[in-house]
Amino acid sequence: DLLVKNVKSLMKERLPKTMLTLLDNVSRLADETGLSVYVVGGFVRDLLLRIENLDLDIVVEGNGIQFARKLGKEYNGRVVGHEKFGTSVVLFPDGSKIDVATARMEYYQHPAALPTVEMSSIKSDLFRRDFTFNALAIKLNGKDAFTLIDYFNGQRDLKDGVVRVLHNLSFVEDPCRAFRAVRFEQRLGFHIGKQTESFLKRAVDKKLVDKLSGTRLYNELMHMLEEKTPIRCFQRMKELGLLQTIHPRLMKNLRNMQVLERIEEIFTLSNVIKLVENPDAGFMYFLGMLYGLKAADLNQVAHRLSLPAKIKKRVKEDIGNCESVLKTLRRKRKCEPSDIYNLFAGLSTEALLLVMAVSGDDRINKHVLMYFTQYNPSAALSLTGDDLIEMGIRPGPVFQTVFKALRDARINGQVHNRDDEVALVEKKFLNGRSR
Ligand code: CTP
Repeated sequence: DLLVKNVKSLMKERLPKTMLTLLDNVSRLADETGLSVYVVGGFVRDLLLRIENLDLDIVVEGNGIQFARKLGKEYNGRVVGHEKFGTSVVLFPDGSKIDVATARMEYYQHPAALPTVEMSSIKSDLFRRDFTFNALAIKLNGKDAFTLIDYFNGQRDLKDGVVRVLHNLSFVEDPCRAFRAVRFEQRLGFHIGKQTESFLKRAVDKKLVDKLSGTRLYNELMHMLEEKTPIRCFQRMKELGLLQTIHPRLMKNLRNMQVLERIEEIFTLSNVIKLVENPDAGFMYFLGMLYGLKAADLNQVAHRLSLPAKIKKRVKEDIGNCESVLKTLRRKRKCEPSDIYNLFAGLSTEALLLVMAVSGDDRINKHVLMYFTQYNPSAALSLTGDDLIEMGIRPGPVFQTVFKALRDARINGQVHNRDDEVALVEKKFLNGRSR
């Protein structure tokens, strides 16, 4: 049941030298300790797909933490171990890290119905994993070092583009995998296998997904929204009944999909994104998904996802600000640049991008663009508080007024430099007196 294939040359072709050296060292250390050591999971999957992935997950048949300590010692790394789980992380001086686990028979508390045939510890470790293509391993040492271990036809499924679970209780063991299935399907352009899909739907029907903790559900959802093109994920989650398990009225409105599409457009096609600093794409899609929910429903979603208070506040603020700005802009046809600046200045980047995504109105979008490209950059003033004091203005609330006037004038193109600013202060606030 094992397809043997040496992947050393593929690794040489695909991996950076430092990584190869590290793997060689792990291999040598494994031989010295006499333990069998494997690379597993996403790293192997992506190597075969020729997708860059430098996150090493190592599994040791034996004491993983001890092995990690040895590795850490050789590389001057720091080792953080969790005795309870037999897992550890080796943190190297160059900032890279490897996860090292101990091969175990059991990952999760699972129903006793799983077959208990005898297996090697690596095989049973792999058998506890989510999908066949994530259950591949590369043996790192021994006679058969650098051969691919494929007990469950992961290579075939990679070739055919199929997301397939290893057994019928996979989603029962961990309902999170329903979301992971959609995420991998869309990321890799695969499709969820027929039987796997029916297991997934059964888990939904049996309300197993409802049992997931809010934190895990939220993390899994965010992983999905951080993918390059999460829109298809939404469609699939809808089809499979997964969105509805979060809240029955989530994405019920057709407009949500439109908003998400515009968000995708902003992130993939438009140039705006290059102009704003670190916009949080995952969070934008999250906002797009929640936009338009009634306050009570939004609270229920936040509760279901155990949304951290800070995130909940951000969501409410951004959506609220977006709505109120849109209302103002739709009412007010004529806006000076400084009006736009003052309307937008307190808003987060995400709230402003949401304005663009929701409005679908060229006039409004132009305001946002101008804000990012011109008004906001030009709002920086030359004069400081100290300058104002020196000019004879007493510190106090009037400073706010002066700065606002200066900023408005800058943004509206009435002042351009420090001299202009000084002149404006003298004219407006010092009755034309200069010092
Ligand atoms: N895994 C699992 N069930 C889960 C989560 C993870 O079986 N619910 C296993 C899979 O074998 C997976 C490995 O743990 O390959 C590592 O998980 P993770 O780091 O989340 O996934 P990656 O496969 O590395 O995916 P990504 O590329 O998104 O990091």
